[in-house]
Amino acid sequence: MLSSTHSSAPLPRIAVVVGSNRRDSINRKLAQALVRLGAGKFEAAFARIDDLPMFNQDIESNLPPEVVRFKNELARADGVLIVTPEHDRSIPAALKNAIDWGARPWGKNAWIGKPAFITGTSPGAIGSALAQQHLRSVMTGLGMILLGGEAYVTFKPDLINEHGNIGDDNTKKFLADFVDRFAGFVTALAPARQASAA
Ligand SMILES: Cc1cc2nc3c(=O)[nH]c(=O)nc-3n(C[C@H](O)[C@H](O)[C@H](O)COP(=O)(O)O)c2cc1C
Repeated sequence: MLSSTHSSAPLPRIAVVVGSNRRDSINRKLAQALVRLGAGKFEAAFARIDDLPMFNQDIESNLPPEVVRFKNELARADGVLIVTPEHDRSIPAALKNAIDWGARPWGKNAWIGKPAFITGTSPGAIGSALAQQHLRSVMTGLGMILLGGEAYVTFKPDLINEHGNIGDDNTKKFLADFVDRFAGFVTALAPARQASAA
């Protein structure tokens, strides 16, 4: 049966990068809810960025262990989910720092060729749109392959319910569609990526 062949295939591995180092980050809660929506479609592991030192080219030749860990987490992933707040109409410094470490040193860009889904939430009316636009520009420049469409989420207190799921049905359906498309996108690209890495 085709279905049994399909179900035995390993699930793609997703690295989840939350662009906030805040303990009660609403973006981390959103990321956790998205991972729940993707259950059975991908395996997700959160790649922490809050303990990465400030990027400094002077230490590129002797990477700190936290940076090595982060780059290895990216390298193992078939795709990356980035869920970010907006800081001053752009990418938060903590996320930009992680992006720079992921991209360096020259020739060791961990982002290149990875499929990615970018989303994020903020209490503002345009729900992190400008941060996402800047991020798209940066990640495209680094060679990521971005899922099409725009997923700007305005944070409201009931966005995530007490069970950690998206509370509002329309928002849940909207985001579930992105998660499904992302899972399909990563699954389609994973064999090609694994073959080129072998
Ligand atoms: C330094 C700073 C700058 C901010 N700039 C923006 C902004 O440009 N647009 C926006 O919608 N919210 C902005 N906010 C509000 C954040 O959206 C809000 O703090 C949100 O909770 C951050 O997400 P997090 O909880 O995942 O860290 C800013 C917050 C901080 C601390």
